[in-house]
Amino acid sequence: MNSTMQNISVEKVKKSKIEEVDFNNLAFGSVFTDHMLVCDYKDGAWETPKVIPYQPISLDPSAKIFHYGQSIFEGMKAYKDDNNKTWLFRPLENFKRLNISAKRMAIPELPEEFFMEGLKTLLEVDNQWIPQTEGSSMYIRPFIFASGNGFHASPADAYKFIICLAPSGSYFSGKVKVLIEEKYSRSANGGVGYAKTGGNYAGQFYPTQLAVAKGYSQVVWTDDHNHEYIEEAGAMNIFIRIDDTLITGPTSDRILDGITRKSILQLAEKKGIKTEVRKITVTEVIEAAKNGRLKEMFGAGTAAVVSPISGFGYKGVDYDLPELESSFASQIKKDITDIQYNRAEDPFGWRV
Ligand code: COI
Repeated sequence: MNSTMQNISVEKVKKSKIEEVDFNNLAFGSVFTDHMLVCDYKDGAWETPKVIPYQPISLDPSAKIFHYGQSIFEGMKAYKDDNNKTWLFRPLENFKRLNISAKRMAIPELPEEFFMEGLKTLLEVDNQWIPQTEGSSMYIRPFIFASGNGFHASPADAYKFIICLAPSGSYFSGKVKVLIEEKYSRSANGGVGYAKTGGNYAGQFYPTQLAVAKGYSQVVWTDDHNHEYIEEAGAMNIFIRIDDTLITGPTSDRILDGITRKSILQLAEKKGIKTEVRKITVTEVIEAAKNGRLKEMFGAGTAAVVSPISGFGYKGVDYDLPELESSFASQIKKDITDIQYNRAEDPFGWRV
C-alpha cells in the first residue's frame, strides 16, 4: 500500500442522462449515474483514481476475474437530508471491510485516501443524482476485480477498483418469506464467508431459485456441519426476537460482519432492548414459534436496511410470524434511517 495519490481527474459527460430517470419509481440498483470512478493497479501499485463517464469495461478473455473469480465489493449508501446536504453512513467501516475481503482473496489492499477521496469526488460530480424521494437513496457499489490476464491459477498482476452509483428504491418489494436451508451451505470454517466476494453470492443463486420455486424469497443459511444453527439470510444478516430479547449469531469465518448488523446491536442496546449475540439453533426457533415466544425475525443490511420477515418454512412446514403494531424492526428501522437522513441526533458519530 505504498502508492501516492495525485489529484483525481474528472472527465465529464457531454450530455447528462438524468432527465431520463423517473426518481419517483426507482427500483434497486438498475439505473446508473453519468460517471464512475476507476483506479488501476499495475506494476505493484495503485494508480491515481479518475472519474470518467459511466461506460463498459474492455477486458481480455483471459482476465483472471472470468476464470478464478478474484473479485470483492462493498455496498454503501449516500443520503440527502431536507437541506440538500449529502451524508454517508460509517464509510470507514466499508473501507476497512473492503481490505479485509481483499486480503482473503489475495487482492492488493487499497489505500484509504484512494477510497475516501475517490468516493467523495464521484459523489460531488453526480450529486444531483442522489434521490430526495422518501425511501430512496444513492446505492454505492465499490468493487475490485482481477483484470490481469492468464490461465495460471494464481493471483493476477493487475486489478481495477471501480465505484458505480445507482439511485435506488427498496431492495425488497413485498413480504419477505424465508426458507431455512437443510441441504446447501453458504460458507464453511476457514472459507470465505466473511469476505464480500462475488462467489459467495453466486453460490446462493441455485438454492435460492429452488426456494423461490416453493414460494419463498430468501434462504436462511444454516451451518455447513449439521444445518443446526441459524447463520445469515441471503443478502443480509438475520435477527430473531424471542420474547423481548433480540438475538443474532456471532460473526465468524462464515458470517459477514454487517455494518447495519453491528449498528442495530448498538441502537437496540441504547433503547434498552436486551440483545444477545450467540449461536441460535433452528430447534430453538421452531420451539419458540410453536409456543408463541417467537415475536419477530428481520433481515439487516445496507441494501435491505431492516426487512421484516413475515414467515419461514422448515422441513415442509410453514410458520407465520405475528404482525406487531410497534415491532422492534419498525422502531429500529426508524432510528437508523433517522440517523442516516440527518433527521435525528447521531449519538454514535456514524454520519459523515
Ligand atoms: C448490500 O446490502 O449492500 C449488499 O451488498 C448485499 C447485496 C446482495 C445487495
